Amino acid sequence: MSFPETRMRRLRRTESLRALVRETAVTPGDLIYPLFLCPGEGVRREVGSMPGVFNLSVDEAVREAEEAARLGLGGLLLFGLPENKDEQGSGAYDDNGIVQQGLRALKASPAAKKLVLIADVCLCEYTSHGHCGMVVETIDGFEVENDSTLDLLAQTAVSQARAGADVVAPSDMMDGRVAAIRRLLDDEGFPQTPILSYASKFASAFYGPFREAAASAPLFGDRKTYQMDGANLREALCEIELDLEEGADMILMKPAMPYLDVIRAARERVDVPIGAYQVSGEYSMLQAAFQKGWLDHDRAILESLLSIRRAGADFIVTYFAKEAAKLLA
Ligand code: PBG
Repeated sequence: MSFPETRMRRLRRTESLRALVRETAVTPGDLIYPLFLCPGEGVRREVGSMPGVFNLSVDEAVREAEEAARLGLGGLLLFGLPENKDEQGSGAYDDNGIVQQGLRALKASPAAKKLVLIADVCLCEYTSHGHCGMVVETIDGFEVENDSTLDLLAQTAVSQARAGADVVAPSDMMDGRVAAIRRLLDDEGFPQTPILSYASKFASAFYGPFREAAASAPLFGDRKTYQMDGANLREALCEIELDLEEGADMILMKPAMPYLDVIRAARERVDVPIGAYQVSGEYSMLQAAFQKGWLDHDRAILESLLSIRRAGADFIVTYFAKEAAKLLA
């Protein structure tokens, strides 16, 4: 059948018809809100390159989490800005580290503990050099060592689980880290803690604003020896397969909007829950357009999230989580 028997516009005629045939939805429960925890009390410091995003001391983070719970968000993803950084990133696996303190405080709040508390597992916020693993000098300059980093990542995950993390989410891109984390979690009495692995993480310019938010820009070099080349789709599928074999329960894909094809390919390949991270640069470029009055704030936020769900993500990590939940209410 074709025109004039078929008229695609018939089902677009009213909002109720459009609602009836809508294929994809975003709900507040699909959204994960990232928080950047910092030392101190009563601290609420806006990130210059991310309007509306703050470094929060633990007390402020609890208030923010309670609001997130009221809005019906699915969970929080926690990052930490430690008091001190060192070569080994020891703030990451310190039982009294900033994320561990935050987790305990969030678990003590009846409202906040209803959220899924996800702890980001990485060293870059805690190392003085800003790399995600151990750095050694080599004849070619330096190398981010893989194997010596694994135990530190595993210790970080265990320390976070001990402090109350519901899920641990390794974002470092070292080979073998999911297996190392699974093994130590099981040995230390946390066989029930799921791993959300950032299985498909590209070396992206869109992380720029995050590195200001988390004070985690590398002092030298870049992350291209551990994060993936943006040109590679098949490699992403290999990463995902390996992480699942190593014991990942869910996978996270990032960035989101510039890599929707990769999310779609993953969706068609695996049946585990898939999350996508609408990263800092995706947020900041939209915010910049909103500030200039170039894009409609409400519609662009929801459309961007819808595109990620449509590509195949079950849940979305997004700095727009609170705003989106308000729009959806
Ligand atoms: C830590 C980490 C980064 C992001 C999430 N976890 C930064 C990076 O890899 O440089 C980026 C998130 C964002 O841009 O919002 N490794």
